Amino acid sequence: MALDVLLGLQWGDEGKGKIVDYLANQYDIIARFQGGPNAGHTIVIGSDKYVLHTIPSGIFRPDVQNLIGNGVVVDPIILAKEIRGLREAGLKMENLLISSKAHLILPTHRWLDAASEAAKGDAKIGSTLKGIGPTYMDKTGRNGLRIGDINAGTFKEKYNNLSSKHQQLLEIYPSVDFKYEEEKAKWFEAIEEISWIPVVDCQYYVNDALKSGKKILAEGAQGSMLDIDFGTYPYVTSSNTVTSGVCTGLGVAPKNVGKVLGITKAYCTRVGSGPFPTELNDEMGEKLRALGKEFGATTGRPRRCGWIDIPQLKYTIMINGVDSLCVTKLDILNEFDVIKIAKHYTIDGKQTDQLPYDLTGADIKIDFDEMPGWKVDLEDINDLSDLPQAAKDFIAEIERLLEVPVNFVSKGPERRNLLVR
Ligand code: GDP
Ligand code: IMO
Ligand code: MG
Repeated sequence: MALDVLLGLQWGDEGKGKIVDYLANQYDIIARFQGGPNAGHTIVIGSDKYVLHTIPSGIFRPDVQNLIGNGVVVDPIILAKEIRGLREAGLKMENLLISSKAHLILPTHRWLDAASEAAKGDAKIGSTLKGIGPTYMDKTGRNGLRIGDINAGTFKEKYNNLSSKHQQLLEIYPSVDFKYEEEKAKWFEAIEEISWIPVVDCQYYVNDALKSGKKILAEGAQGSMLDIDFGTYPYVTSSNTVTSGVCTGLGVAPKNVGKVLGITKAYCTRVGSGPFPTELNDEMGEKLRALGKEFGATTGRPRRCGWIDIPQLKYTIMINGVDSLCVTKLDILNEFDVIKIAKHYTIDGKQTDQLPYDLTGADIKIDFDEMPGWKVDLEDINDLSDLPQAAKDFIAEIERLLEVPVNFVSKGPERRNLLVR
């Protein structure tokens, strides 16, 4: 009886969606446990590309149930649009479920997100402006609205109370453009539109499934370095993106958590503000961005690019209890003569593998190792043993430094572009 976990070990966009889609046919249920439509998980099947924001990435497998867990925050407008898009692509959507305890993102949450960011000026988080922070604030502040409230007679009244509270709060912020009445009307239409989705008591659904021998994969969103407790605070998201978030985000006991698969790019990216020790602000960074098509799947913003960071990965492997690794986007390094690996940090003259309390102000010197590139197209390689020696050496070095086996290597956006050990 076990629920496996797949999550990102960096600052998000590690390629989680692609790997979940690949693995989904080995599971009965795929479940999102945190985050909301700040996520953008890309899945490429043949010539078709899909970006999922709220819906788990197992949705393309009709026999697999896809559960939006209680830890997720849901914007009905975005969810309704996602469902419309998938139906147009021919999906029946009979395999989607939602927790009664998932919180709702109101239009005024998005408005507050924008106003809060405007007030911060240069110190802004670089939020996706989807209302994530304000919605989780209302959840922990015990003011939120949940999916299970929709059919109660008091739903409109609860909505109006919360919304007017937000409007009072907005007076302390700089004014930002927001067509509230229009957004409110769209929101209530979307609430109607998603009303067909079966609502479940997530905690019973998940535990009953485990008891009856079903296999569940929890799909992380964002990345471990964006975790509210362990990420680069305050430049983080507002949920626990790490393994422990699975327990509270789905209602599963720690003893039922099985294998943890951590995803890392062969390099590193970050979108939004905040520290990024191995960031490349030069033509090398530009090259990674151009070759890796590193533009946000949710906001289209250019992603900041840098080299793979071993101390950072050791930290997230430790917190998540990672059992095995998947290295994605190896193909993006095909054209590089030299590939760098950040092996250690030196802080205040002392070499360390530990991340300091605050990466923002820290004066970190990075000790890089250089490895030769392979300079070969990986497109036609279908087996790990056929990788060029330099690519094999790069993967072996990552395994050696991180002390965790690499069981998957991804070398292209498509479902089939995956080497499995
Ligand atoms: P997620 O949020 O972790 O699911 O990742 P995103 O979808 O935001 O970003 C990953 C991007 O890289 C998407 O455009 C994927 O299609 C793409 N991708 C995933 N794996 C690979 C890979 O191995 N090689 C290449 N070239 N692209 C990949
Ligand atoms: P996936 O699941 C990358 C970043 C934002 C910002 C910070 C806070 O696709 O990997 P928020 O909207 O959550 O208040 O923004 O977190 N961020 C992501 N970066 N991938 C994501 O999701 C992200 N979700 C949020 O850019 O810096
Ligand atoms: Mg993404």
